[in-house]
Amino acid sequence: MPPMPESTARIAAESEPCALRWIDAPAGHGHLDVLDQTLLPGRVAWRDCRDVPAVVEAIRSLRVRGAPAIGIAGAYGMAVAAGEALAEGLAGVAIRDHLAARAEALATARPTAVNLRWAVERCTAALARLPAGATARDCRTRLLTVAREIHDEDRRLCAALGRHGAAILPAGDVLTHCNTGCLATGGAGTALAVITSAWDLGRRFTVFADETRPLLQGARLTAWELVQRGIPVTVLVDAAAGHLLSTGRIGACIVGAARIAAHGATANKLGTYALALLAAAHGVPFYVAAPSSTFDLSLADGSGIPIEERSAAEVLAPLGVRAAPAGAAAYNPAFDVTPARLIRGIVTERGVITPVTRQTVAATLGAGSAS
Ligand code: MRU
Repeated sequence: MPPMPESTARIAAESEPCALRWIDAPAGHGHLDVLDQTLLPGRVAWRDCRDVPAVVEAIRSLRVRGAPAIGIAGAYGMAVAAGEALAEGLAGVAIRDHLAARAEALATARPTAVNLRWAVERCTAALARLPAGATARDCRTRLLTVAREIHDEDRRLCAALGRHGAAILPAGDVLTHCNTGCLATGGAGTALAVITSAWDLGRRFTVFADETRPLLQGARLTAWELVQRGIPVTVLVDAAAGHLLSTGRIGACIVGAARIAAHGATANKLGTYALALLAAAHGVPFYVAAPSSTFDLSLADGSGIPIEERSAAEVLAPLGVRAAPAGAAAYNPAFDVTPARLIRGIVTERGVITPVTRQTVAATLGAGSAS
């Protein structure tokens, strides 16, 4: 085997690859480090985010991506913002104004995944509880604590939902979409944690990973994670899912979520809705896995979920290679919404919601919901 690049060796040595980490430094100079997912699987490289514009850029350009991971990045981004206030010598109301503006920039970096605004608002609520005379250093200490709490919590939520999901995953091969693993969360993942937990319990299957056009999170990231884990993975073009389902070898489809409304309608990576329709047509159970921080109980149904539209270049010149003639337009919604009636169950850290209705969602998440 050829020697691994040093950074790959470092990641392989960790129990699981991770999407982001806080690098501590004295005198408030700590910063957020994200594993640059735009370079995977070819290169494993970390990117320093030392100011809020760098954090926002990393989120917008999908260097860090996946609903829970961008929430965690947003929370650490608030600690970075307080570090900026410290470096600029801000005091009193200037600190609060600075942090409020930074909070809005972070919360709006991407619109669909509710985890981002949820995490930033948890930070601003913690700030509001500090005394009026709090210094930039006080704010930074508090914000870093909250960000670490959110990160640690997500790790625990992933482990719990992985266990619940593994218990109900039907026999047969598994079909998944996009990337929902360590790279998308602060822990083992959501849908991918269900798959890896089942594998760790001794279940054997092949994971079919939709390549996930146009940015190829399935081919580049899910396959990368599963190859590292030694779990058999087969990548297919998204359009092959119908034919694969017709063969009868898929026991279940399982995907993640960017935002789930009160009635269970689920926004997730573009192509999820089509996959759910295909699964229904072939009688294959379709599961969603997501932590409670991905539910938005303020929205009754999926029609209120904002759908991110991304650049035409991602479709017309995927990975920088022109695929359509100059002059063609592109339609590039990053997410779609799958209605609850197509979802057999939603795996959460609190158990599996099935059937998926407003009542069953409320019964599982109502009390002490994270959203
Ligand atoms: O655009 P992305 O790559 O951030 O989209 C990610 C997804 O759609 C995931 O399925 C979702 O965020 C859940 S990640 C655990």
